[in-house]
Amino acid sequence: MPAQTTTAQGLSLPAIQALAKADMAAIDALIRHRLSSDVVLINQIAEHIVSAGGKRLRPMLVALAGRATGPVGADHHQLAAIIEFIHTSTLLHDDVVDESDLRRGRSTANALWGNAPSVLVGDFLYSRSFQLMVELDRMEVMRILADTTNRIAEGEVLQLLHVHNPDTDEAAYLNVIERKTAVLFAAGTQLGALASGADETVQRKLHDYGLQLGYAFQIADDVLDYSADADALGKNLGDDLAEGKATLPLIHAMAHADDAVRERLRGIVERGDTSAMPEVLAAIERAGSLDYSLRRAFEYAAAAESALDGLPGNEAIDALRGLARYAVERGH
Ligand code: IPE
Ligand code: IPE
Ligand code: MG
Ligand code: MG
Repeated sequence: MPAQTTTAQGLSLPAIQALAKADMAAIDALIRHRLSSDVVLINQIAEHIVSAGGKRLRPMLVALAGRATGPVGADHHQLAAIIEFIHTSTLLHDDVVDESDLRRGRSTANALWGNAPSVLVGDFLYSRSFQLMVELDRMEVMRILADTTNRIAEGEVLQLLHVHNPDTDEAAYLNVIERKTAVLFAAGTQLGALASGADETVQRKLHDYGLQLGYAFQIADDVLDYSADADALGKNLGDDLAEGKATLPLIHAMAHADDAVRERLRGIVERGDTSAMPEVLAAIERAGSLDYSLRRAFEYAAAAESALDGLPGNEAIDALRGLARYAVERGH
């Protein structure tokens, strides 16, 4: 392997993508194949969101967690497709809840077809993932995924309860992101190891890696909502503020602003006032809240890497280490 592809932090993104290329091609083919329905509107909406791509990070993690711990085969590809279907269904639902109109560089399904079709096709993808699960016919797989999807639903509802609530603090925020995002990453990496025949101790390490990575990934997403290049992101900036969703940058700014600014910010969260974005950005800048949030994300990424310590080294482990960095450093 060329020396420049490896750093102390793990493999670079192109090297990771090269390593996962064959798996990703097989996974993508399976996703396309298993997407279909004889109901035309389902195909249209599912195709619209799936063909827009997305980073396919979760299925890549399933494959890499598998390769990190043993041989990889068709079960990994099926598990990866399951995880991506669950993810995609939550995106369809999330864009309805968040009233978002841009995703993966395209108009959202809810913007094009309306809320009801988006929710129902989200349910289709969700139940299709159950069909794929049952085909694997392994009770421990079904248990992990049943528990995971249930936790995700709790996370989404919990988040709803915090909307427009300026008292949302970091602990409450972390509780929400663990459920809505991190547990799916954890399930993916654990299942990759499980399908490779790894024992429970190794599965636990891969689970913990995924969980910590999921926190890092969501915190980075919440920073990007205030700071990304909108074209690269493929989503609108400022969606969180518009929804009255207090994420870590804003939570930190509210905690560290002087009394007058804090009162302003609290009112803005209560109203979900996007016209106040310049004022919010100024307060975030003054309090160093994006730097603080990224620091926290790096801590979770480092914890993800630590979870891998003690495993026998190989290229896929280096790739997982590289992805921990990427989750925080990415621009979209
Ligand atoms: C978006 O996930 C939802 C979050 C958990 C932040 P991704 O950023 O992985 O979305 P795609 O699949 O690449 O579009
Ligand atoms: C992620 O939260 C929600 C899911 C886990 C589906 P966001 O609301 O921040 O995700 P984006 O930014 O819309 O992708
Ligand atoms: Mg959203
Ligand atoms: Mg977001």
